[in-house]
Order: sequence, then C-alpha cells, then structure tokens
Amino acid sequence: MGTVMVTGAAGLIGSHLIEDLLRRGAVVWGLDIVDPAASHNLDEVRDHPDFHYVRGDIRDPQVIGDFFRPEASTLYHLASVVGVNRYMEDPLSLIDIAIIGTRNLVELCDRHRVRILFTSTSEVYGRNPDVPWDEDGDRVLGATHVDRWSYSSAKAVCEHMLFGIHRKTGLPMSIVRFFNVYGARQNPIYVVSKAVHRVLNGQPPELYDGGQQTRCLTHIDDVIEGIIAAATRPEAVGEVFNLGNPVELTMEEVVRTVIEEAGVDMEPVPVDTGERYGKVYEDIIRRVPNVDKAGRLLGWTPRTSAREGIARTIAWARENPWYLE
Ligand SMILES: NC(=O)c1ccc[n+]([C@@H]2O[C@H](COP(=O)([O-])OP(=O)(O)OC[C@H]3O[C@@H](n4cnc5c(N)ncnc54)[C@H](O)[C@@H]3O)[C@@H](O)[C@H]2O)c1
Repeated sequence: MGTVMVTGAAGLIGSHLIEDLLRRGAVVWGLDIVDPAASHNLDEVRDHPDFHYVRGDIRDPQVIGDFFRPEASTLYHLASVVGVNRYMEDPLSLIDIAIIGTRNLVELCDRHRVRILFTSTSEVYGRNPDVPWDEDGDRVLGATHVDRWSYSSAKAVCEHMLFGIHRKTGLPMSIVRFFNVYGARQNPIYVVSKAVHRVLNGQPPELYDGGQQTRCLTHIDDVIEGIIAAATRPEAVGEVFNLGNPVELTMEEVVRTVIEEAGVDMEPVPVDTGERYGKVYEDIIRRVPNVDKAGRLLGWTPRTSAREGIARTIAWARENPWYLE
C-alpha cells in the first residue's frame, strides 16, 4: 500500500483504520490533536515501526506542513469535532476545524496529486423524510438557530469543496457518509457506547424522548472495509457513498438489546431533551441509508448485525476495565 496519511488518527474510526492499514503493510502517518501517550486508542499502534504520529491542529498550516507526505498515495481525512453535545458546546471550532482544516489539506493534496478520502456524515441529509436516502437525496435542514444543523452544514461545505476541486483540477477524491458507527473504544457519549458504559457500571441506560426515533447502527469493522475500498478503488474516484447498515432499529430496541446482551435486569430512564438541552436540540426521526451504490461500486455490504456488534462491544468493554472508569 506504500505510504498513507490519516487525520483524526486517535479517534474511534481513525485508530481502527490505522490498525487495518498497518496489517495490510502500509506505512502510516497519523495526525491528531491529542497526546498520543494519553490515548488508549493508539495502544495497539503507538510503537509500530511503520506508524508515525504528528500531534497538532489541522487548522495550523505549519502542523499540516510537517505532517503531509507528498509521496503518499492517499490521505484519509477524518479529523473533526464529532457528537451533538460537543458541537453544541463549541460551535466555532466545529465549523472552522471542518472548513479551514479541510481546505488546508485539499490544497496540499491537489498540489501533490495525493488522492483524498473525506469522511462525511448521514447528517448531511438532515431530516429528509424520504428514507432510505440515496447519495443524490436532498438535504432537508431546519433553522440556523438550531445547533444540530451546523455539523451537517460544515460537512456539506467540505463536500462542495471536494466536488468543486475534483471537477476543476481532476483531484482524485472520494467521500463516505457514515451512519451511526459504533464499536470497541468509542467515547461513551453516543447511543450504543453510552448505554454500554452505563449498563456495565450498574446504571440504567437513558432513552431520549420516548425512544421511537430510528437509527441504523454500523459496526466499526464493516466501516473500515468500506473506507479502504472507497479510498483505493478506481471506480470510487469522484463519488460519494453511504456507508451504513440499512437495518433500521428504534432507540428503544437498541437500548434494550444492550440490556439483554449485558444480561442485566434494568429499565431505561426516560429523558426529555427539550428540558435537558433547550430549543437548540432537534432530533432526526428516521435515518436510513440506501447502500446499493456502495455494493455496486465498492463491493461493500455491512455484515455485522446490531445484536452481534453490541455483544462484541460489551465483551470488549468487560475485558478493558479502563474503559468503564
Ligand atoms: N462515528 C460516527 O458515527 C460518525 C458518523 C458520521 C460521520 N463521522 C465522521 O467520521 C470521522 C471520524 O469520526 P470518529 O467517530 O472516529 O470520531 P472521533 O471523535 O473519535 O475522532 C475524531 C478525531 O479528530 C480529532 N480532531 C478533532 N479536531 C482536530 C483538530 N483540529 N486537529 C487534529 N485532530 C482533530 C479528535 O482529537 C479525534 O481523535 C469524523 O470526520 C466524523 O465527522 C463519524
């Protein structure tokens, strides 16, 4: 595979991706803002002879200059502020990390003709009621005073940047849109990881607003295969792909599956998000991908059922007590 670069290297998806790329024989340059010594996500790769880590902020051109390898075949660009709570807490960083950071990297990739894989999100479809969403589906968003749509909009601006530069200069690029990725090591602020963390700590999981909203849970192992196919297959150049498991589950089903697979006797605690977050929060009722295009062009199909993936996540958490602290 030669040399490849990964931003967001210490994140959930970045760290799993790097493990896979190293197994495939790549030399990997990773960039992230976090201290590598303090990141459990890097435990498996920190001392690997083919792994190089640069600590810094993708908004800083000096950092990007130190990190960027012009000889690399591919840049996997994952660094981002992620998670509804986080972008409600830090709206400026969310937007400028996405837009300034991505712009810095796109310019370098274009100058050195390095292929770029950009990780976008199912949030770009907003609350489009016409599910399942195919990649050409409309973006249906709410008012700009609702913080939720800032992440969707920032990622969509990056997608515009990539499509535009691809058309203008032929920069080889591909985009993937994830749907609720989960698995071992995920920060416990998302639906599966939070429920697993709470349940294994003896606390009942929370259920937002009645729990009838649906999500399509996509296991980390499935996602990594899709990312690498999208970043390497010639057919993927200039294309955007949904990477999601199309099986739709209500939040209540997800939380109850966590309880069942953990083998505990608990009832979820209802949470009213209006009371907790105020009017800046707005949920998406259904979020379902059409993955025909990923199947056709990438040969990708998600293989891990939610029950199996949740069971694996629980087993991993039980073996790694640091995670439950
Ligand atoms: N996990 C999901 O369900 C999901 C869904 C849709 C999209 N995505 C996208 O996938 C990518 C990876 O997500 P993840 O789940 O691994 O999230 P994550 O939060 O675990 O990883 C993101 C990483 O980016 C790093 N980062 C943030 N700001 C930075 C900066 N200014 N400079 C350098 N590094 C910075 C963080 O430190 C973190 O390690 C993101 O772009 C995210 O938007 C994820």
